Amino acid sequence: MSIKNDLILRTLRGEQTERTPVWMMRQAGRYLPQYMVLREKYGFFERCQTPALATEITLQPVDIVGVDAAILFSDILVVPQAMGLEVQLIESKGPILPEPIKNINDLQRVMVPDVNDRLHYVFDAIQLIKQELNGRVPLIGFAGAPWTLLCYMVQGKGSKTFDEAKAFCYTQPDTAHKLLQMITDTTIAYLKGQVKAGADIIQIFDSWGGLLSPADFETYSLQYIRQIVAALKDEVPTIIFAKGAWFALEEMAATGAHGLGIDWCIKPKLARQFAGPDVTLQGNFDPAKLSAPIPVIKQEVKTMLEAFGGHRHIANLGHGILPNIPVDHARAFVDSVKEYS
Ligand code: CP3
Repeated sequence: MSIKNDLILRTLRGEQTERTPVWMMRQAGRYLPQYMVLREKYGFFERCQTPALATEITLQPVDIVGVDAAILFSDILVVPQAMGLEVQLIESKGPILPEPIKNINDLQRVMVPDVNDRLHYVFDAIQLIKQELNGRVPLIGFAGAPWTLLCYMVQGKGSKTFDEAKAFCYTQPDTAHKLLQMITDTTIAYLKGQVKAGADIIQIFDSWGGLLSPADFETYSLQYIRQIVAALKDEVPTIIFAKGAWFALEEMAATGAHGLGIDWCIKPKLARQFAGPDVTLQGNFDPAKLSAPIPVIKQEVKTMLEAFGGHRHIANLGHGILPNIPVDHARAFVDSVKEYS
């Protein structure tokens, strides 16, 4: 089926478009009252595993805020779950993995699963979402980068520093690399399954890539992301979002990814210099700035669009939208991009 609004697809291919496309990371979530209604009734993984619910949540921001792409409602932690680890999502505490990986023996508790068996519910959801979208906008599928998934699988919970995950890598590098390769192999099969089910774009979330030094980012993150992009890039446009890892934009562009996400801590001009001319940049509005009054949001969106120069740019936030953002502020962000560009 052809896609009516294919702005993002054309921008990722490097074509000049009539305006800058826009979506928001974590756009399917808690700032939407319609999401909160479903959150009252069903558990988090129940929402992920029930295709009708995942579809309804995926479509909410398309209908309510008018973004140019849908992103699958799921979570990066469904992969560790499919590999055999228990994952809980505790209200106001975030994700908890009660039995994290600490040493080589613990690797016996994880496997490279048959994704068609363990994650078929995601593929079912994608098929249903594609039907319901009916070609309105493209659907973004996603996975966590192996390094970011290792962070949760070893630390067992969220952290600002992921010091235990780092200590695991620096004291047991062979075990770390075995685990990273298992995650990579699972992720490649999983993302190929998403594409087969109908995902039009794939984004890799490396939320904790910026915690690593440039050399360690290459060792523990990028070499695995490179394998994933290589396996996918001829089938589907691929975006890498490695938060805080601006120092690796040149190397990330060299993977052949079509798009690179950047956060608000780097100037668009500098990001363009690092990344070179042949990749689309995505970002980089400070998500906290959506709390500002709407006229300020409009002004700052204009400044952002000008800084990116109107070519090979997908407007987005520099990280996920925060739960306390009023819906009309999110809509003002999207509308301002549509107005100014
Ligand atoms: O972008 C979207 O709207 C699609 C859905 C999506 C979710 N998580 C739903 C979700 C996506 C793309 C993710 C990715 C994700 N999950 C990342 C990478 C992006 C990022 O923000 O850095 C990470 C690190 C996770 C892990 C995770 N899942 C955390 C840390 C949390 C709790 C904190 C939080 O942000 O809510 C989750 C739970 C989660 N994933 C929620 C949603 C809507 C909130 C669940 C709820 O309370 O209803």
